[in-house]
Amino acid sequence: MWRDLLPLGRHPATHGYRRFAWTGVDGDCRAWFEEQAAARGLRYEVDRNGNQWAWLGDPAAGDAVVTGSHLDSVPDGGAFDGPLGVVSAFAALDELRGRDARFTRSLGIVNFGDEEGARFGLACVGSRLTAGQLTREQAHRLTDGDGVTLPRAMEAAGYDPDAIGPDPERLARIGAFVELHVEQGRALDLSGDRVGIASAIWPHGRWRFDFRGEANHAGTTRLADRRDPMLSYAETVLAARREAELAGAVATFGKIAVEPNGVNAIPSLVRGWLDSRAADQDSLDAVVADVEKAAGEYAAAHGVDLAVVRESFTPVVEFDHALRDELARILGTDTGLTVPVLGTGAGHDAGILSGSVPTAMLFVRNPTGVSHSPAESATEDDCVAGVLALADVLEGLACR
Ligand code: GLV
Ligand code: MN
Ligand code: MN
Repeated sequence: MWRDLLPLGRHPATHGYRRFAWTGVDGDCRAWFEEQAAARGLRYEVDRNGNQWAWLGDPAAGDAVVTGSHLDSVPDGGAFDGPLGVVSAFAALDELRGRDARFTRSLGIVNFGDEEGARFGLACVGSRLTAGQLTREQAHRLTDGDGVTLPRAMEAAGYDPDAIGPDPERLARIGAFVELHVEQGRALDLSGDRVGIASAIWPHGRWRFDFRGEANHAGTTRLADRRDPMLSYAETVLAARREAELAGAVATFGKIAVEPNGVNAIPSLVRGWLDSRAADQDSLDAVVADVEKAAGEYAAAHGVDLAVVRESFTPVVEFDHALRDELARILGTDTGLTVPVLGTGAGHDAGILSGSVPTAMLFVRNPTGVSHSPAESATEDDCVAGVLALADVLEGLACR
């Protein structure tokens, strides 16, 4: 499976993955998923929001156990964020068939569309639509950097954008959702464990800061006469770092757009996107409010206008305690080991679904903790340990 996925959307120079929603490369990844379902004789479906499902047993029977993740990536992402959960799902099914497991509940494998939000700016679009956390009208307004709207992009990829919307019947069929994911930090590396269980996801969101000044000549405009938005933007980046440090949170300006974007022109617009996350809502609110306040002061000092728009927000997720305890019991039974339970600052489809379905996550050790980068890694032994842990969990849940 990894051999087939390896070349899809891999940039020849950076070796990072560029698998963005509803592009040709995304279509290649989706074709791969369909092939994997067919090769295993699974019933294949695409839901109204473009999420792909592969079923063993009747999906309509109810109380199904579902596992999976996503195949899209951030710009120059690693190989594992997303695909590890999908590959491990198919591999765990193969393992269970090898064990002659007898399923008493239907098993589903899912690939959620547009998890990273790399193209349209909003993460987890497929699961948000399904869970009713994003309306069709809101989704139809999403636009990529080239001005292509989400409905046009879906249409170009052969999907019906007018069909998208909440899918409560589909969610009602699911009794438990377990997403396996590469860890995006070093907790397991430090504890010396191959696999962990998720406790919670930090509340997180994305805010767009538009600093508007005046374009002018970089050579002839006196410093005192400038209304340069780059200055207030730069000061805001430093403020974000300072406020995050004070609050024990994280804050990142990782994307920026500049107009007119000329070396010898003072910018007229600097648009920067803030991603901020914290262990609790109050800390996150305080960080964002303080960054906004500081940005307003810097903008005023430079004669620049500021507008801030919240583009997305996901509240804290505390995963289902009963399911989490069940996973710990299943994984501890054979080994007698206690599996570490960890929180994370990364967002996941499992977090979106957790409002509608009992949901849990397994993390696989990442020796460097690096993620959202071509350097993301996991050893083959740890990936195999992840597959076996997922197989144990699915067997414990679906073969009782
Ligand atoms: C998704 O990976 C996110 O946490 O941004
Ligand atoms: Mn990610
Ligand atoms: Mn992911």
